[in-house]
Amino acid sequence: MGNSEQTLTHELTLDRDCTTLSRHVLQQTVKTLHASSLLSPEAQDISAIMNRIALAGKLIAKRLSRAGLMADALGFTGETNVQGESVKRMDLYANEVFISVFKQSGLVCRLASEEMEDPYYIPENCPIGRYTLLYDPIDGSSNVDINLNVGSIFSIRQQEGEDLDGKAQDLLQDGHKQLAAGYILYGPSTVLVYSVGNGVHSFILDPSLGEFILAEENIKIPEHGPVYSVNEGNFWQWEESIRDYNRYVHRHEGYTARYSGALVGDFHRILLQGGVFLYPGTVKKPEGKLRLLYETAPLAFLMEQAGGRASTGREDILDFVPQKLHQRTPLIIGSTEDVSLVESFIQDRAKREETEPIAVQ
Ligand code: AHG
Ligand code: MN
Ligand code: MN
Repeated sequence: MGNSEQTLTHELTLDRDCTTLSRHVLQQTVKTLHASSLLSPEAQDISAIMNRIALAGKLIAKRLSRAGLMADALGFTGETNVQGESVKRMDLYANEVFISVFKQSGLVCRLASEEMEDPYYIPENCPIGRYTLLYDPIDGSSNVDINLNVGSIFSIRQQEGEDLDGKAQDLLQDGHKQLAAGYILYGPSTVLVYSVGNGVHSFILDPSLGEFILAEENIKIPEHGPVYSVNEGNFWQWEESIRDYNRYVHRHEGYTARYSGALVGDFHRILLQGGVFLYPGTVKKPEGKLRLLYETAPLAFLMEQAGGRASTGREDILDFVPQKLHQRTPLIIGSTEDVSLVESFIQDRAKREETEPIAVQ
């Protein structure tokens, strides 16, 4: 029997020790906190929260895999969310899944999502739930109806104070306040990537076990990569500095474009292979499209942990303090060299504009 037949008849298994997600999170959080034992209450809490997030991921993955076979799973609801965007049925479903997995958990008092104008409170959790979950339930919704990859993004923050007026003012702080962040990518397999501030680790869902199994620990992004990932259809409405960068990659050997319409998918490629993702400000959306608390800050947390960088073009994303819950920021994220290259075009234009006004091309 030849090699190819052997591959067909025997399922190859990878030599891994089947570390489960909750145990891994517990160990990592204990290291980050320099706690003395696995019984550290905060480490236990973060591990339990991650377990619930993983459950949400499994439920969403299951629904996505069957959505085309179900009535009323795909398409729009006819409503518009607080962002002014048309809501898909899958956005609503996934938003509800995150809420329901945290009910009666005693872990999370409040959830804030890009699909909800105000945070959602789970009052029975509040006496002991000391955390807030921030999330983008479905990232890349435009891919849902065409069976392409989408994701969920999450971030965990400590709840500070009682939040008596329900306005969640304590969430208007920089990204360094995140205790953990990550995403779930629903692709050919379902992958969960997370960090609690001690490296970035990925897990793959084994559907036969219903468990996320460790795939890669301490992922490090290359210092440079060939990929630039940006919606070039917005060229006409970018600032001149972003056009300068875009012209540069068009005119030099060694660059290739990849853009999937789902930030999580594009981010995952760049995390593993290097390069840069950009969503700059546009004429229509000067602050860009992506939301700080649910998208750019969690991914910036992961990127810095992987040895890369995340910038608005003018400051590090993690230093940016939002003025409102649904604050948007421009995003330039990826390999250190590639982010610096984009920033250098922004700085050059700023210097030139100080000395001579530039005509718009
Ligand atoms: P969401 O589906 O959560 O609204 O996010 C969509 C985001 C992001 O995933 C993607 O990179 C970007 O929007 C695509 O936007 P354009 O179609 O404007 O390129
Ligand atoms: Mn999104
Ligand atoms: Mn979304």
